[in-house]
Amino acid sequence: MAEPKHGTKPIVIEETVGKKAYCQCGLSAKLPYCDGAHSRENTQCKPIVVEVEAAGTKAICQCHQSGNLPWCDGTHSRLPQA
Ligand code: FES
Repeated sequence: MAEPKHGTKPIVIEETVGKKAYCQCGLSAKLPYCDGAHSRENTQCKPIVVEVEAAGTKAICQCHQSGNLPWCDGTHSRLPQA
């Protein structure tokens, strides 16, 4: 299986309103969005699909430890450094 491309810090974007699928396997070429890589690479991951109701700056969690997935809640800053 390919190595995940994401790190352990959030990806901060200017998000638009609408249905979004955020990558959880880390293999997407379109991070933070899903591009179907989880299926192509036979991972057990699935994207988190949410309806974004308000446009604006969003921090998408990449460490997978947030208590408010898919959004970053700052947990990454308290994780041990690799
Ligand atoms: S990247 Fe910030 S809580 Fe996961």
